Amino acid sequence: MRHGHSEADVVPGRPGATSGPDDASCWLVRAVGAGARVPCLDGVERPYVDLDSAASTPASVSVAAAVDAFLPSYSSVHRGAGFKSRLSTTAYEAARHLALRHVGRDGGRHTAVICRNTTEALNHLAYRLRLDPNDVVLTTVVEHHANLLPWARYARRRYVECGTDGVFDIEDVVAGLDEKPRPKVLALTGASNVTGWLPPVDELCDEAHGRGVTVVLDAAQLAPHRPVPTGPDFVAWSGHKMYAPFGAGALVGPFAAFAEGEPFLAGGGAVELVDLDEVLWTDPPEREEAGSPNVIGAVALGAAIEELAQIGWDAISRHEAALARRLRRGLASIEGIRLLGPSPDVDTLAVATFTVEDMHHALVAARLATEFGIGVRHGCFCAHPYLIRLLGLGCDGIATARSQVLRGDRRRIPGAVRASAGLTTTVADVDALLVALRQLISGSPPPVDYVQDTATGDFFPAVEGTGWWSPASGASGGCARG
Ligand SMILES: Cc1ncc(COP(=O)(O)O)c(C=O)c1O
Repeated sequence: MRHGHSEADVVPGRPGATSGPDDASCWLVRAVGAGARVPCLDGVERPYVDLDSAASTPASVSVAAAVDAFLPSYSSVHRGAGFKSRLSTTAYEAARHLALRHVGRDGGRHTAVICRNTTEALNHLAYRLRLDPNDVVLTTVVEHHANLLPWARYARRRYVECGTDGVFDIEDVVAGLDEKPRPKVLALTGASNVTGWLPPVDELCDEAHGRGVTVVLDAAQLAPHRPVPTGPDFVAWSGHKMYAPFGAGALVGPFAAFAEGEPFLAGGGAVELVDLDEVLWTDPPEREEAGSPNVIGAVALGAAIEELAQIGWDAISRHEAALARRLRRGLASIEGIRLLGPSPDVDTLAVATFTVEDMHHALVAARLATEFGIGVRHGCFCAHPYLIRLLGLGCDGIATARSQVLRGDRRRIPGAVRASAGLTTTVADVDALLVALRQLISGSPPPVDYVQDTATGDFFPAVEGTGWWSPASGASGGCARG
């Protein structure tokens, strides 16, 4: 990638913020690498259009600056008497405090465990809730695998179904809560990573709590984009989806929930005393954080939280609502595109998943990347049960896909294309996607042939030396891992 432009040429800046409620012509978070150009098949280098924020957002310039400013003080956390260790410990604890503040919890009753990401946080919690194999966890078919698979290890699951539009009603959840045996936990996403749909978390918390059911919120998608409701008992999210890609996320919950019993990880830093056959665990949160913590990641997470607070939820919501409308209505208006999930008039995050008539999802994504410099994701987005429902796959379709994957052939794996936006995205980025898709759908022939890799299902331009494919990309290099 080259940075051929001054950023001002390519990306309108935040100054002046937005000029009206629907205006998202400026970014609100300045991305490291904004305006970078990427090579396209015609030999032209184009400004990279990043429409993959739901996977990982770009890094924020101010987050990177905070990390840079901290690095000279970097040292061990809670493990050294030196001045820099004290600075690092203070910075780490400040980030923990910011994590609590971001989800509206107080540091008296609640604690924040700094972990790698949402997946780790939910695995940690599923272990820590000390579920009995006969306990029921009520969850939904809308969930990301990170909020499905950890529960399967420790308890029975009951699922709330969705309709063909990818949403469920409060009544559907209430039915699951009332079914006997009563669930112990309701594990719910704050926002879908596939459709951007926002379940009514507040109401669902009231229903669950009214029945003594603990609520776990997967806020991986919600936390960067909307205020996190204070109702859920536990909240998990990731820094890399909120402009802080330095490997830290958070699990927030009541202090008391972590005060007894074995922690998820055993090791140094989590103990008071150890003898060869005895261990005295320390108090949370350190009890839950065995091993040297990721202080750089925590500093980055804290800086991102501060940046979002400075921008403010009003401006964030305005910006992203404008992008969501433009993206979802724009896609829905193109003949040959099928937008999955709720109608474009429903309030969602700026996320849109769609299929293109007669074109493989992997080919659409490849052509957007190689011919237009647009980065999107394709596949099933780590939410296979949800995609199956949104695509309307029957039992035969599922069985065929399964047997093909078992044979190592992913060429016909079902899926869709996802475009997602955030505070580094502008209306111009969304428009670039819509223009490119219209061009693809109009039948404009590809400038070169594409070949499909059997092992991954991905498409690559059949041109030597373009860097789009190498034997090393093989199965492990696929861009649609579930
Ligand atoms: C809704 C949702 N939950 C959980 C995750 C898992 O997040 P991570 O990969 O950061 O652990 C994701 C990631 O895409 C997500 O979108």
